[in-house]
Amino acid sequence: MEADFAIRLAEKFETPFYAYDLGEVQKRTQELRAALPLGARLLHSFKANPLPAVAQQIRLGGASAEITSDGELEAARLAGHDLREALYGGPGKTNHEITSALAAGVRWFSCESWLDLQRLSGAAERAGVDVQILLRVNPAEAPQARLAMTGVESQFGFDESLLLTVDARARLNLPGIKIRGVHVYFGTQVASVEAIAQNTRRALETALRLETALGFVCSVVNAGGGFPWPYANHGPTLDFSGMQAALTAVWQESPLHETAELWFEAGRYLCASSGSLVSRVLDVKPSRTRTFVVLDTGIHHLGGMAGLGRIPRSAVTFQNLSPQGGAEITADIVGPLCTPLDSLARGVKMPSVAPGDLLAVPNVGAYGLTASLIGFLSHPAPIEIAYLHGEVVQVWRWRTGHQQLPQVPSSL
Ligand SMILES: Cc1ncc(COP(=O)(O)O)c(C=O)c1O
Repeated sequence: MEADFAIRLAEKFETPFYAYDLGEVQKRTQELRAALPLGARLLHSFKANPLPAVAQQIRLGGASAEITSDGELEAARLAGHDLREALYGGPGKTNHEITSALAAGVRWFSCESWLDLQRLSGAAERAGVDVQILLRVNPAEAPQARLAMTGVESQFGFDESLLLTVDARARLNLPGIKIRGVHVYFGTQVASVEAIAQNTRRALETALRLETALGFVCSVVNAGGGFPWPYANHGPTLDFSGMQAALTAVWQESPLHETAELWFEAGRYLCASSGSLVSRVLDVKPSRTRTFVVLDTGIHHLGGMAGLGRIPRSAVTFQNLSPQGGAEITADIVGPLCTPLDSLARGVKMPSVAPGDLLAVPNVGAYGLTASLIGFLSHPAPIEIAYLHGEVVQVWRWRTGHQQLPQVPSSL
């Protein structure tokens, strides 16, 4: 982001903050839509960034909502989505979540298991409505993705083999349920156009096999996507030229293109580039042979799952917005939490920094704040600022903190 603009924001607002450039969101949404086959539908996966200002911009770019919780449902409503077009997915949906989604108008669900299907059927019957189901499938073949979610044992979707058993057709025949299609999400950060096209081909083949075996009319294939973008650094981006042609060829090869719609869902590609995390240096401390730069942000605001070692750490880039011009230093960039895991980068070479300097991390508009450890150590969540053409348009803060519930049962 522009240093001058970030400095002006830091003068007006407290640090740390996330700042999202809605112009970037607009550009990426247009870019991705233009790289999909004509007529394909794009869904915004709220898990990447549920901020209503960002989601609204993606909606204005023509995407529907892909949501997985009460919170994402509310964010989609705040972003102005028509919830009748939203797709509600995720393993382990509760009766409460399904019922509130139905009450809000959601009718399309991605179904992950037999029990999920029974819950959806029960809730649909109680609400007196029909729900449209995409069967989320875990095909046998491993995908081409950096974080694979199919082709391996996983909690996501039905193993394809389970849907090809003799009793599957009867088990799908439940009140309130209309099986409308197939959903395959292969994984995230798929590294090439060829791999995205190959995954899409596999999703279409899977859908065709299931349509034949189960005897439903497949009117939707949600082929996922996994469209990549660098995380927290200026790494290379994927050249999309050739993607529309490749995906269109795959789509036209499939007999389903006569009768079905093709859907894709994306999170990181749509919003990653829009977001920067701006923080202030609180301290610069030598310790034996190392230098620690202590920020007012850390793994509670960024990359928390990586911080805990659950997923690989990305190389994090810091832009010093107020450089002092001193000699280069080698530093560990850490946060204010009381754990050595609260480290955003180790041994990075950077121009010297001083307490009070502002540092910005680029490309964190996806899987930033809400993918972090916001509750850990009870700091307030940073504010989130959405701006367009250099003007702040909305400012939000994620709520944290304890709230005592009024109802305490007198006896158990
Ligand atoms: C089912 C599903 N759909 C969509 C996404 C969004 O993926 P991405 O942000 O890589 O586009 C994810 C991410 O984990 C997912 O699990």
